[in-house]
Amino acid sequence: MSRAERKKDHIQHALNSVTENSNSFDDVRFVHNSLPETSVSQINLSVSIGELMLSSPIIINAMTGGGDKETERINESLAACARDSGTAMAVGSQMAAFKDPAVKRTYSIVRKVNQKGLIFANLGSELTLDQAKRAVDMVEADALQIHLNVIQELVMPEGDRDFQGALETIAHISSSLEVPVIVKEVGFGVSSEAVKALKETGAAAVDIGGKGGTNFAVIENQRREEPYSFFNEWGLSTAVSLAEAVHSASKELSVIGSGGIRDGYDLAKAIALGADACGIAGRVLAAANDGGKEKAERYIQHCLHELTIIMAALGADSIQQLQSVPLVITGRTRDWLLDRGIH
Ligand code: FNR
Repeated sequence: MSRAERKKDHIQHALNSVTENSNSFDDVRFVHNSLPETSVSQINLSVSIGELMLSSPIIINAMTGGGDKETERINESLAACARDSGTAMAVGSQMAAFKDPAVKRTYSIVRKVNQKGLIFANLGSELTLDQAKRAVDMVEADALQIHLNVIQELVMPEGDRDFQGALETIAHISSSLEVPVIVKEVGFGVSSEAVKALKETGAAAVDIGGKGGTNFAVIENQRREEPYSFFNEWGLSTAVSLAEAVHSASKELSVIGSGGIRDGYDLAKAIALGADACGIAGRVLAAANDGGKEKAERYIQHCLHELTIIMAALGADSIQQLQSVPLVITGRTRDWLLDRGIH
């Protein structure tokens, strides 16, 4: 299967798997506040990730580029949605554009459509500094996402088998590139130990990309004759991974929560668990696929509206205040965190 066909396949499988309705956020509950002492008009959704200022905590996370006309059309819709909702957006892995320069425009369309917004470039951890610079230039990016996708590679029959040197590469790129580096998982979560190691690299942020939404083990296993089924259940759930990451992160390393975020309620819970911002991929893709830019933008605006209302209910005027409201954690998330000594 060619790279372009695989990308199309990913989009189709991801769209089919967006139906998962329960995830680790269901273990997280807010404590009702009868005296919030705020008003809806007072709520401020702006956040910062290192030096980047975002008007809201939502990032349309890395998905596509590099395929055919269809991927270009999706990126165009997502970019217009990002522009009109003031949302940051990442493009999908740009390695495809280095292998086939003809597909560059499926990425650069994003900057053409959204000239002033925040755009993140994206490459895997096997990147070189030269590729990092070219990827940033291609979309005039404000940051570079370096994705970690060990499980996806292992399940892919043609995937990588050697994962040595990723930390060193991340440190080298972080210290040499002019824009900040965001290290991200793609749906298996990042542990407290991995976050400790990433703190030493100079990366500006870690996007924990937890389990509970798009599942690349399931997607890639569908293409294997003998599936590695054990990886379908692998990984840290988004709630667990957020708690683990926040436990180990420092002021210098922002934490982005992502993986299965469905709505404003999940956004609020991710932030209350300590996320500085949140990424959404699969559900925005589904909306864009269904009704183009308009439906994707309606979905994002609805999420932001729900988040605002929830913040008013909790008496949190800012994202920073939402990060410290009381929470009750139950079920498997509580068991995991107790077992790991994270409270
Ligand atoms: C992705 N994701 C992804 N991530 C990345 O860093 N580079 C990439 O090229 C891609 N490609 C990609 C394609 C498609 C079709 C989807 C749905 C996703 C992963 C994505 O950014 C995110 O980490 C996960 O999808 C988890 O978030 P959701 O989908 O559960 O919100």
